[in-house]
Amino acid sequence: MHKTELIAALDTSTLKSAENLIEKLKGAVKYFKIGSVLFTAEGPAAVDLVHKHGGKVFLDLKFHDIPNTVKGAVKNAASMGVYSVSLHLSGGAEMLQACAELEKRPKLWGITVLTSFNEYNLFRSGFRGGIDKTVKLLASLGSDNGADGVVCSPLEAWRLREMFDGKLKLITPGIRPEARGDDQKRAVTPAQARAAGADFIVVGRPIIEAKDPGAAAAAILGELK
Ligand code: C5P
Repeated sequence: MHKTELIAALDTSTLKSAENLIEKLKGAVKYFKIGSVLFTAEGPAAVDLVHKHGGKVFLDLKFHDIPNTVKGAVKNAASMGVYSVSLHLSGGAEMLQACAELEKRPKLWGITVLTSFNEYNLFRSGFRGGIDKTVKLLASLGSDNGADGVVCSPLEAWRLREMFDGKLKLITPGIRPEARGDDQKRAVTPAQARAAGADFIVVGRPIIEAKDPGAAAAAILGELK
């Protein structure tokens, strides 16, 4: 069976708290996600921090802009040495191709439908096809235009695994070892994500807000075995 890796989201606002978390997870977690919360506060220093501790960075800034602008951002991310970046697949084929063409670039992980969306939210945002169909269409767009992976809920991952069998990595946020009743609407447990075929799971608050983040991560890794 394939391996499912854990990516810990460093959704904190200072280098100090990020480093504190990295130290608690050191040895167990290899991949760290830097998103808009930490990056708007600390910038590229956050990337350097993860690298200093020997981790790999998923830079989750969810780019969505005209092709030339996103290409420039991905180029800059490449100079920081990050492992992967996220961009919205709804940014379109030209935007994806402009990034995929870069000679030296991180892995391109395309966002399908955010895991905080349910059918109602998606409809209200102007997408009329429903979650399953929209995720499949966007994943195909990514696959045809150079994406290396797609970000989706494990609820759709098993279907994408069948459709793209190994061609696209599947990255799944919305992971909840226990129900929390928060903004993640399409949430499942780590074991369910693994069974659905996820290559990576992204976990934030269940680790960050745990009394013992190291133990929370260890329990999640236990479920992924
Ligand atoms: O705290 P929680 O486990 O919900 O954190 C999930 C992380 O994954 C957040 O940093 C969020 O921005 C990110 N993410 C997501 N859904 C996506 C892509 C990224 O929740 N589709």
